[in-house]
Amino acid sequence: MKILVIHGPNLALLGEREVAVYGKFTLEDINHSLEALAKEKGVTLECIQLDEEGKIVEKIGKARKEFAAIVINPGAYTHYSVAIRDAIAAVGIPTIEVHLSNIYAREEFRHKSVIAPVSVGQISGFGVNSYLLGLSAAVELLK
Ligand code: DQA
Repeated sequence: MKILVIHGPNLALLGEREVAVYGKFTLEDINHSLEALAKEKGVTLECIQLDEEGKIVEKIGKARKEFAAIVINPGAYTHYSVAIRDAIAAVGIPTIEVHLSNIYAREEFRHKSVIAPVSVGQISGFGVNSYLLGLSAAVELLK
């Protein structure tokens, strides 16, 4: 069973980007933690970071044959990318939306997610654990 983890725009800068908001962990740290959990759970992961909206759409569009679930942090695209939302709806792969920060405790423009309605659920505000909880939820879903 293979699960796709997509890190959206600016997440390659984790560890140096707004540390007070996003924490001191790097993307590499997060991917290592995810890989360790995946091993424990007996699933395979592909973790990819993409800044460009079109590349995310393309990756999701090609995911159907290969992946059983998607865990995605769409970054800022969360709040306005109808294209990513439509890609998720089109492939019909169970998708879990995750955020490091609690988007509802931040600026008002972050309170809306266009991805949430096409996701199985959303995990927001637990830092690195948002990803780990998201992966656990995906594995449970596929049992
Ligand atoms: C984020 C929250 C978004 O609002 C922001 O644009 C990000 C990161 C998070 O993980 O908390 O880039 O998705």
